[in-house]
Amino acid sequence: EKRYDYLIVGAGLFGSVFAHEMTKRNKKCLVIDKRDHLGGNVYCEQKEGMNIHKYGAHIFHTNDKKIWDYVNQFAVFNNYINSPLSLSKGKLYNLPFNMNTFYQLWGTKTPTEAKKIIDKQIQEYGVESPKNLEEQALSLVGKDIYETFIKEYTEKQWGKKATELPAFIIKRLPVRFTYDNNYFNDRYQGIPVGGYNTIIDGLLRDIETRVGVDFFESREELESLADKVVYTGKIDEFFEYKYGQLEYRSLRFEHELHDMNNYQGNAVVNYNDTSYPYTRIIEHKHFEFGKQDKTIITKEYPENWNKDKEAYYPINNDKNQTIFKKYREESKLSENYIFGGRLAEYRYYDMHQIIGSSLAKVGEISKDK
Ligand code: FDA
Repeated sequence: EKRYDYLIVGAGLFGSVFAHEMTKRNKKCLVIDKRDHLGGNVYCEQKEGMNIHKYGAHIFHTNDKKIWDYVNQFAVFNNYINSPLSLSKGKLYNLPFNMNTFYQLWGTKTPTEAKKIIDKQIQEYGVESPKNLEEQALSLVGKDIYETFIKEYTEKQWGKKATELPAFIIKRLPVRFTYDNNYFNDRYQGIPVGGYNTIIDGLLRDIETRVGVDFFESREELESLADKVVYTGKIDEFFEYKYGQLEYRSLRFEHELHDMNNYQGNAVVNYNDTSYPYTRIIEHKHFEFGKQDKTIITKEYPENWNKDKEAYYPINNDKNQTIFKKYREESKLSENYIFGGRLAEYRYYDMHQIIGSSLAKVGEISKDK
């Protein structure tokens, strides 16, 4: 007889929610992760009394009351609201694009004035059927917004010219004709007090976990322990890259400790032009209204990806989607394996979406029985 009902590969949000829910349903779970910590990409490192978002800034937001209530079981959320700034060509602007941004760009004071400029620029520079990212952005917001905020930032992010990037990367570019710097439109938003580890600890309390264990290094032995495997790693790796390798964009994070209590006055400042090699600086203490004497900042550099680097953003072009679909079809063939999470689904997901999809998967499986 097997010792566990489920072996869960990956202790990120997908795996942790799955393990928590199945344990509540009296299933025995073992969670493993190849990293030396739990939590996947939401993991925070404690330094100088601050929670450092090791894998990039994480701000929780959702419109779904059920998901909000779900995470609030495990942590109290503070009232942080994401209002990033943008530095471009020596000037600071508010984001997302709103009446403050338009005032800073053009000196316009009313929605009518701002709309008039945007509409005029769309007419002058826009194209009817955009063939690349540049044309897409110009046709959505016009020249000034594109050149100040989008062109160079996107080129840094993807390491390619905007004219060589596909239009689909930008589906919408919301502009707001109110003086509202709240980046997200969702009803619920905040940072868990104590950091994201508090949520992960709550989810995995009383569940057996092993860190520093790579599934592929002792696959047979691990599989012999459980009836079913929940796999949240890279799907192409699972199938030994037989249909080819899926591509990603990576990031490098440089953390710096500064002997001052406030470095940039805001949690997130975007660096939109190419005179800076990084795309953002995060000052972690501001996520939690920290009052420490020191501060830690993180510079985020976009990077080309290879197998030895962290896979952050899937490159969902036709080539990769075609490869992914083959893996997905194959993944449906065996009942003993369950695939989920951002790497197995080769998709960018926000945290609330991952929690939702993990809960949905549990619901689906539990009803089957
Ligand atoms: P995740 O990657 O967290 O977990 C998978 C785990 O599997 C990893 O820990 C990995 O080590 C492990 N694993 C893989 N292969 C293995 C193997 N062979 N053996 C053992 N273990 C293995 N969302 C949001 O809502 N607000 C935000 O502000 C942000 N910000 C943000 C910034 C950046 C830079 C990124 C890249 C992403 C965000 N996100 C976000 C998204 C958020 O990070 C994401 O939704 C979740 O972390 C995904 O959780 P998963 O469990 O799917 O993957």
